[in-house]
Amino acid sequence: MAPTSLTLLLLCAPALSFALDPRASARSLNSLRRRDDRNVPPAGFYNPTTAGGSMLTIAPNTGGLGEPLNVIVSGHSDPIVLVDQEDAGGLRNYFLSVGFAAECLGQHAGDAQTANLGDGKGQVNETSELRWDYGDPQLGTCTETIKGGNHFRYWIQDGSNANSGAIFMATSYEKPIQDGHDIIFNGYNLGRDWLVGNATAQTSLIPTANITNGTTYSGQTSFGGYTYKTNVVYLSGILSNSSAGVNHDQTVGNKNTLAVDGYVAVMTISVVSKPAASNGALSPSPISSWSLLAAFLAMLALSLST
Ligand SMILES: *[C@@H]1O[C@H](CO)[C@@H](O)[C@H](O)[C@H]1NC(C)=O
Ligand SMILES: *[C@@H]1O[C@H](CO)[C@@H](O)[C@H](O)[C@H]1NC(C)=O
Ligand SMILES: *[C@@H]1O[C@H](CO)[C@@H](O)[C@H](O)[C@H]1NC(C)=O
Ligand SMILES: *[C@@H]1O[C@H](CO)[C@@H](O)[C@H](O)[C@H]1NC(C)=O
Ligand SMILES: *[C@@H]1O[C@H](CO)[C@@H](O)[C@H](O)[C@H]1NC(C)=O
Repeated sequence: MAPTSLTLLLLCAPALSFALDPRASARSLNSLRRRDDRNVPPAGFYNPTTAGGSMLTIAPNTGGLGEPLNVIVSGHSDPIVLVDQEDAGGLRNYFLSVGFAAECLGQHAGDAQTANLGDGKGQVNETSELRWDYGDPQLGTCTETIKGGNHFRYWIQDGSNANSGAIFMATSYEKPIQDGHDIIFNGYNLGRDWLVGNATAQTSLIPTANITNGTTYSGQTSFGGYTYKTNVVYLSGILSNSSAGVNHDQTVGNKNTLAVDGYVAVMTISVVSKPAASNGALSPSPISSWSLLAAFLAMLALSLST
Protein backbone atom coordinates (compact mmCIF):
# COMPACT_ATOMS: atom_id res chain seq x y z
CA MET A 1 0.00 0.00 0.00
CA ALA A 2 1.33 3.44 -0.95
CA PRO A 3 2.16 5.76 1.98
CA THR A 4 -0.38 8.42 0.88
CA SER A 5 -3.31 5.99 0.90
CA LEU A 6 -2.20 4.67 4.29
CA THR A 7 -2.28 8.26 5.60
CA LEU A 8 -5.80 8.66 4.19
CA LEU A 9 -6.94 5.48 5.88
CA LEU A 10 -5.43 6.56 9.19
CA LEU A 11 -7.18 9.92 8.85
CA CYS A 12 -10.45 8.15 8.27
CA ALA A 13 -10.14 5.70 11.13
CA PRO A 14 -11.20 8.05 13.96
CA ALA A 15 -14.24 9.17 11.94
CA LEU A 16 -15.24 5.57 11.36
CA SER A 17 -14.95 4.60 15.00
CA PHE A 18 -16.80 7.76 16.07
CA ALA A 19 -19.63 6.90 13.68
CA LEU A 20 -19.92 3.40 15.08
CA ASP A 21 -19.90 4.60 18.69
CA PRO A 22 -23.53 4.44 19.91
CA ARG A 23 -22.74 7.01 22.61
CA ALA A 24 -22.09 9.58 19.88
CA SER A 25 -25.59 9.07 18.46
CA ALA A 26 -27.08 9.11 21.94
CA ARG A 27 -25.43 12.47 22.55
CA SER A 28 -26.89 13.97 19.37
CA LEU A 29 -30.32 12.58 20.33
CA ASN A 30 -30.08 14.23 23.73
CA SER A 31 -29.15 17.58 22.23
CA LEU A 32 -32.24 17.25 19.99
CA ARG A 33 -34.40 16.68 23.07
CA ARG A 34 -32.93 19.70 24.82
CA ARG A 35 -34.03 21.89 21.93
CA ASP A 36 -37.66 21.11 22.82
CA ASP A 37 -38.60 24.48 24.32
CA ARG A 38 -42.33 24.03 23.99
CA ASN A 39 -44.70 25.46 26.58
CA VAL A 40 -47.77 23.23 26.53
CA PRO A 41 -50.93 24.56 28.20
CA PRO A 42 -53.22 22.11 30.12
CA ALA A 43 -55.53 21.77 27.08
CA GLY A 44 -52.59 20.51 24.98
CA PHE A 45 -52.83 23.39 22.46
CA TYR A 46 -53.57 27.13 22.33
CA ASN A 47 -56.92 28.17 20.85
CA PRO A 48 -55.90 30.09 17.69
CA THR A 49 -58.97 32.36 17.86
CA THR A 50 -57.81 33.97 21.11
CA ALA A 51 -54.69 35.37 19.41
CA GLY A 52 -55.84 36.56 15.99
CA GLY A 53 -55.84 33.13 14.36
CA SER A 54 -58.70 31.02 13.04
CA MET A 55 -60.03 27.45 13.23
CA LEU A 56 -60.71 27.69 9.48
CA THR A 57 -58.00 27.44 6.84
CA ILE A 58 -57.99 29.67 3.76
CA ALA A 59 -58.23 27.79 0.45
CA PRO A 60 -56.71 29.56 -2.57
CA ASN A 61 -59.05 31.06 -5.23
CA THR A 62 -62.18 30.88 -3.03
CA GLY A 63 -62.40 34.50 -1.92
CA GLY A 64 -61.22 33.57 1.57
CA LEU A 65 -63.29 30.46 2.27
CA GLY A 66 -61.67 27.56 4.06
CA GLU A 67 -61.86 24.20 5.75
CA PRO A 68 -62.36 23.43 9.46
CA LEU A 69 -59.34 22.44 11.56
CA ASN A 70 -61.32 19.55 13.02
CA VAL A 71 -58.59 17.30 14.49
CA ILE A 72 -55.77 18.36 16.84
CA VAL A 73 -52.83 16.19 17.92
CA SER A 74 -52.28 17.41 21.49
CA GLY A 75 -48.93 18.85 22.58
CA HIS A 76 -49.14 16.38 25.48
CA SER A 77 -48.50 13.53 23.02
CA ASP A 78 -45.17 11.68 23.19
CA PRO A 79 -42.51 14.15 21.91
CA ILE A 80 -41.27 11.66 19.29
CA VAL A 81 -44.72 11.71 17.64
CA LEU A 82 -44.66 15.51 17.43
CA VAL A 83 -41.64 15.48 15.09
CA ASP A 84 -42.69 15.78 11.43
CA GLN A 85 -40.69 12.81 10.12
CA GLU A 86 -41.10 9.13 9.28
CA ASP A 87 -37.90 8.06 11.09
CA ALA A 88 -37.71 7.24 14.78
CA GLY A 89 -41.45 6.77 15.24
CA GLY A 90 -42.26 10.35 14.16
CA LEU A 91 -45.59 11.86 13.05
CA ARG A 92 -45.52 10.35 9.55
CA ASN A 93 -44.83 6.87 10.92
CA TYR A 94 -47.76 7.36 13.29
CA PHE A 95 -50.04 8.31 10.39
CA LEU A 96 -48.81 5.28 8.40
CA SER A 97 -50.06 3.20 11.36
CA VAL A 98 -53.47 4.88 10.95
CA GLY A 99 -53.47 4.33 7.15
CA PHE A 100 -52.37 7.73 5.77
CA ALA A 101 -49.30 8.30 3.61
CA ALA A 102 -47.56 11.06 1.68
CA GLU A 103 -49.04 12.13 -1.63
CA CYS A 104 -48.81 10.01 -4.78
CA LEU A 105 -45.17 9.80 -5.97
CA GLY A 106 -44.36 13.05 -4.17
CA GLN A 107 -46.80 15.01 -6.34
CA HIS A 108 -48.91 17.78 -4.91
CA ALA A 109 -52.01 18.78 -6.84
CA GLY A 110 -53.14 22.35 -6.44
CA ASP A 111 -51.97 25.35 -4.43
CA ALA A 112 -51.31 25.14 -0.72
CA GLN A 113 -53.98 26.18 1.76
CA THR A 114 -52.91 28.50 4.56
CA ALA A 115 -53.79 28.76 8.24
CA ASN A 116 -53.08 31.09 11.15
CA LEU A 117 -52.73 29.16 14.41
CA GLY A 118 -52.34 32.32 16.50
CA ASP A 119 -48.74 31.40 17.33
CA GLY A 120 -47.16 34.52 15.86
CA LYS A 121 -46.24 33.07 12.47
CA GLY A 122 -49.32 34.56 10.79
CA GLN A 123 -51.05 32.97 7.80
CA VAL A 124 -48.70 30.19 6.61
CA ASN A 125 -48.78 27.38 4.03
CA GLU A 126 -49.75 23.87 5.09
CA THR A 127 -46.81 21.79 6.32
CA SER A 128 -47.96 18.87 4.19
CA GLU A 129 -50.95 16.82 3.06
CA LEU A 130 -51.48 13.10 3.75
CA ARG A 131 -54.00 10.80 2.06
CA TRP A 132 -55.71 7.52 2.85
CA ASP A 133 -53.36 4.86 1.44
CA TYR A 134 -55.88 2.07 0.74
CA GLY A 135 -53.62 -0.38 2.60
CA ASP A 136 -50.59 0.39 0.41
CA PRO A 137 -48.16 2.93 1.97
CA GLN A 138 -46.13 3.13 -1.28
CA LEU A 139 -48.74 3.65 -4.00
CA GLY A 140 -52.14 3.71 -2.26
CA THR A 141 -52.29 7.51 -2.16
CA CYS A 142 -52.23 7.42 -5.99
CA THR A 143 -55.50 5.48 -5.74
CA GLU A 144 -56.82 8.16 -3.35
CA THR A 145 -55.89 10.91 -5.80
CA ILE A 146 -57.98 9.19 -8.50
CA LYS A 147 -60.82 7.53 -6.55
CA GLY A 148 -61.03 10.15 -3.80
CA GLY A 149 -61.11 9.34 -0.11
CA ASN A 150 -60.04 10.65 3.24
CA HIS A 151 -57.22 13.17 3.46
CA PHE A 152 -55.93 16.02 5.58
CA ARG A 153 -53.60 19.00 5.48
CA TYR A 154 -51.77 19.96 8.66
CA TRP A 155 -50.00 22.80 10.39
CA ILE A 156 -47.77 22.81 13.50
CA GLN A 157 -48.43 25.31 16.30
CA ASP A 158 -44.81 26.14 17.06
CA GLY A 159 -44.47 29.90 16.67
CA SER A 160 -42.87 31.69 19.62
CA ASN A 161 -46.18 33.23 20.83
CA ALA A 162 -47.87 29.84 21.34
CA ASN A 163 -45.36 27.01 21.04
CA SER A 164 -47.44 23.97 22.04
CA GLY A 165 -46.10 21.70 19.28
CA ALA A 166 -49.71 20.61 18.64
CA ILE A 167 -50.64 19.57 15.09
CA PHE A 168 -53.81 21.12 13.62
CA MET A 169 -55.44 19.08 10.84
CA ALA A 170 -58.09 20.00 8.26
CA THR A 171 -59.67 16.63 7.53
CA SER A 172 -62.21 15.87 4.80
CA TYR A 173 -63.41 13.07 2.54
CA GLU A 174 -63.12 14.05 -1.11
CA LYS A 175 -64.85 12.83 -4.27
CA PRO A 176 -63.03 11.21 -7.22
CA ILE A 177 -60.79 13.36 -9.43
CA GLN A 178 -63.38 13.59 -12.24
CA ASP A 179 -65.68 15.42 -9.80
CA GLY A 180 -63.01 18.04 -9.26
CA HIS A 181 -62.13 16.72 -5.79
CA ASP A 182 -65.18 18.26 -4.14
CA ILE A 183 -66.00 17.13 -0.62
CA ILE A 184 -68.71 14.46 -0.16
CA PHE A 185 -71.91 15.29 1.74
CA ASN A 186 -71.06 15.73 5.46
CA GLY A 187 -67.45 15.10 4.37
CA TYR A 188 -65.73 17.30 6.99
CA ASN A 189 -67.43 15.61 9.95
CA LEU A 190 -67.26 12.11 8.42
CA GLY A 191 -63.62 12.52 7.39
CA ARG A 192 -62.77 13.46 11.00
CA ASP A 193 -64.66 10.49 12.44
CA TRP A 194 -63.31 7.91 9.96
CA LEU A 195 -59.80 9.13 10.80
CA VAL A 196 -60.55 8.84 14.55
CA GLY A 197 -62.17 5.42 13.96
CA ASN A 198 -58.95 4.17 12.32
CA ALA A 199 -56.61 5.89 14.82
CA THR A 200 -58.42 4.13 17.69
CA ALA A 201 -58.92 0.83 15.79
CA GLN A 202 -62.73 0.85 16.10
CA THR A 203 -64.57 -2.16 14.67
CA SER A 204 -67.65 -0.08 13.84
CA LEU A 205 -68.15 3.46 12.56
CA ILE A 206 -68.21 6.30 15.06
CA PRO A 207 -71.85 7.56 15.11
CA THR A 208 -71.21 11.14 13.99
CA ALA A 209 -74.69 12.38 14.90
CA ASN A 210 -74.37 11.04 18.46
CA ILE A 211 -71.13 12.80 19.42
CA THR A 212 -71.40 15.12 22.42
CA ASN A 213 -68.92 17.36 24.22
CA GLY A 214 -66.61 14.93 26.06
CA THR A 215 -67.21 11.79 23.94
CA THR A 216 -64.05 9.63 24.08
CA TYR A 217 -62.48 6.81 22.06
CA SER A 218 -59.24 4.95 22.61
CA GLY A 219 -57.23 2.27 20.83
CA GLN A 220 -53.88 1.14 19.44
CA THR A 221 -52.21 1.06 16.00
CA SER A 222 -48.75 -0.10 14.81
CA PHE A 223 -46.30 0.59 12.00
CA GLY A 224 -42.56 0.12 11.50
CA GLY A 225 -42.14 -1.62 14.83
CA TYR A 226 -43.82 1.18 16.81
CA THR A 227 -47.13 0.69 18.61
CA TYR A 228 -49.09 3.81 19.51
CA LYS A 229 -52.05 4.36 21.82
CA THR A 230 -54.41 7.16 20.83
CA ASN A 231 -56.86 8.71 23.31
CA VAL A 232 -59.44 10.94 21.65
CA VAL A 233 -61.80 13.42 23.27
CA TYR A 234 -64.34 15.42 21.25
CA LEU A 235 -64.70 19.05 22.35
CA SER A 236 -67.16 21.78 21.39
CA GLY A 237 -66.68 25.52 21.78
CA ILE A 238 -63.35 25.71 19.88
CA LEU A 239 -64.57 25.38 16.29
CA SER A 240 -67.74 27.28 15.29
CA ASN A 241 -70.90 25.24 14.78
CA SER A 242 -71.61 27.03 11.52
CA SER A 243 -71.24 27.01 7.75
CA ALA A 244 -70.03 30.63 7.65
CA GLY A 245 -66.78 30.94 5.72
CA VAL A 246 -66.69 27.21 4.95
CA ASN A 247 -65.65 26.14 1.44
CA HIS A 248 -68.16 23.83 -0.36
CA ASP A 249 -70.72 24.50 2.44
CA GLN A 250 -73.66 24.25 -0.04
CA THR A 251 -72.84 20.67 -1.04
CA VAL A 252 -71.32 19.45 2.23
CA GLY A 253 -74.26 20.47 4.42
CA ASN A 254 -78.00 21.17 4.20
CA LYS A 255 -80.86 22.39 6.44
CA ASN A 256 -80.48 19.43 8.78
CA THR A 257 -76.75 18.77 8.59
CA LEU A 258 -74.35 21.61 9.28
CA ALA A 259 -71.22 21.44 7.12
CA VAL A 260 -69.25 21.80 10.35
CA ASP A 261 -70.86 20.29 13.47
CA GLY A 262 -68.54 22.20 15.79
CA TYR A 263 -66.66 19.27 17.30
CA VAL A 264 -62.87 19.02 17.34
CA ALA A 265 -61.30 15.61 17.98
CA VAL A 266 -58.29 16.11 20.25
CA MET A 267 -55.90 13.15 20.01
CA THR A 268 -53.26 12.42 22.65
CA ILE A 269 -50.82 9.83 21.34
CA SER A 270 -48.46 7.78 23.48
CA VAL A 271 -45.84 5.23 22.40
CA VAL A 272 -46.61 1.77 23.81
CA SER A 273 -43.59 -0.03 22.33
CA LYS A 274 -40.77 0.68 19.91
CA PRO A 275 -38.24 -1.45 18.02
CA ALA A 276 -35.50 -2.89 20.26
CA ALA A 277 -32.74 -1.26 18.17
CA SER A 278 -34.27 2.23 18.29
CA ASN A 279 -32.47 3.40 21.46
CA GLY A 280 -30.31 5.83 19.52
CA ALA A 281 -27.86 3.55 17.72
CA LEU A 282 -29.80 3.61 14.45
CA SER A 283 -31.05 7.16 14.61
CA PRO A 284 -29.99 9.28 11.66
CA SER A 285 -27.53 12.04 12.49
CA PRO A 286 -25.09 14.22 10.58
CA ILE A 287 -22.43 11.72 11.66
CA SER A 288 -23.72 9.07 9.27
CA SER A 289 -22.82 11.20 6.25
CA TRP A 290 -19.31 11.58 7.72
CA SER A 291 -19.03 7.82 8.06
CA LEU A 292 -20.13 7.43 4.42
CA LEU A 293 -17.49 9.95 3.36
CA ALA A 294 -14.91 8.14 5.46
CA ALA A 295 -15.81 4.81 3.88
CA PHE A 296 -15.65 6.40 0.42
CA LEU A 297 -12.22 7.89 1.12
CA ALA A 298 -11.02 4.56 2.47
CA MET A 299 -12.14 2.81 -0.73
CA LEU A 300 -10.50 5.52 -2.81
CA ALA A 301 -7.29 5.02 -0.85
CA LEU A 302 -7.40 1.28 -1.41
CA SER A 303 -8.03 1.63 -5.15
CA LEU A 304 -5.18 4.15 -5.47
CA SER A 305 -2.81 1.81 -3.68
CA THR A 306 -3.30 -1.06 -6.15
C1 LIG B 1 -46.80 28.69 -0.32
O1 LIG B 1 -47.25 27.81 -1.33
C2 LIG B 1 -47.30 28.39 -2.64
C3 LIG B 1 -47.83 27.32 -3.58
O2 LIG B 1 -49.11 26.94 -3.23
C4 LIG B 1 -45.91 28.84 -3.06
O3 LIG B 1 -46.00 29.49 -4.31
C5 LIG B 1 -45.33 29.78 -2.03
O4 LIG B 1 -44.01 30.05 -2.36
C6 LIG B 1 -45.38 29.13 -0.64
N1 LIG B 1 -44.90 30.08 0.34
C7 LIG B 1 -43.92 29.80 1.19
C8 LIG B 1 -43.57 30.88 2.16
O5 LIG B 1 -43.37 28.71 1.19
C1 LIG C 1 -61.25 3.84 8.23
O1 LIG C 1 -61.04 4.69 7.09
C2 LIG C 1 -61.64 4.20 5.89
C3 LIG C 1 -61.22 5.14 4.78
O2 LIG C 1 -61.56 6.47 5.04
C4 LIG C 1 -63.14 4.14 6.07
O3 LIG C 1 -63.74 3.59 4.91
C5 LIG C 1 -63.47 3.26 7.28
O4 LIG C 1 -64.86 3.29 7.51
C6 LIG C 1 -62.75 3.78 8.51
N1 LIG C 1 -63.00 2.91 9.66
C7 LIG C 1 -63.59 3.35 10.77
C8 LIG C 1 -63.80 2.34 11.85
O5 LIG C 1 -63.97 4.49 10.91
C1 LIG D 1 -77.35 7.19 18.27
O1 LIG D 1 -78.44 7.84 18.91
C2 LIG D 1 -79.70 7.29 18.57
C3 LIG D 1 -80.79 8.08 19.27
O2 LIG D 1 -80.40 9.36 19.57
C4 LIG D 1 -79.77 5.83 19.02
O3 LIG D 1 -80.99 5.27 18.60
C5 LIG D 1 -78.62 5.06 18.37
O4 LIG D 1 -78.58 3.74 18.89
C6 LIG D 1 -77.29 5.72 18.65
N1 LIG D 1 -76.26 5.02 17.87
C7 LIG D 1 -75.13 4.59 18.41
C8 LIG D 1 -74.23 3.79 17.52
O5 LIG D 1 -74.79 4.84 19.55
C1 LIG E 1 -66.94 21.00 26.63
O1 LIG E 1 -66.37 20.35 27.74
C2 LIG E 1 -65.18 20.99 28.24
C3 LIG E 1 -64.68 20.16 29.39
O2 LIG E 1 -64.35 18.87 28.95
C4 LIG E 1 -65.49 22.38 28.69
O3 LIG E 1 -64.31 23.02 29.10
C5 LIG E 1 -66.12 23.16 27.55
O4 LIG E 1 -66.52 24.44 28.01
C6 LIG E 1 -67.33 22.43 27.02
N1 LIG E 1 -67.83 23.13 25.83
C7 LIG E 1 -68.96 23.79 25.83
C8 LIG E 1 -69.31 24.50 24.57
O5 LIG E 1 -69.69 23.83 26.81
C1 LIG F 1 -74.95 23.04 16.40
O1 LIG F 1 -76.13 23.71 16.05
C2 LIG F 1 -77.24 22.88 15.91
C3 LIG F 1 -78.39 23.70 15.41
O2 LIG F 1 -78.42 24.94 16.04
C4 LIG F 1 -77.52 22.18 17.23
O3 LIG F 1 -78.59 21.28 17.06
C5 LIG F 1 -76.30 21.42 17.71
O4 LIG F 1 -76.52 20.92 19.01
C6 LIG F 1 -75.11 22.32 17.73
N1 LIG F 1 -73.92 21.50 18.02
C7 LIG F 1 -72.91 21.94 18.77
C8 LIG F 1 -71.75 21.03 18.89
O5 LIG F 1 -72.88 23.02 19.32
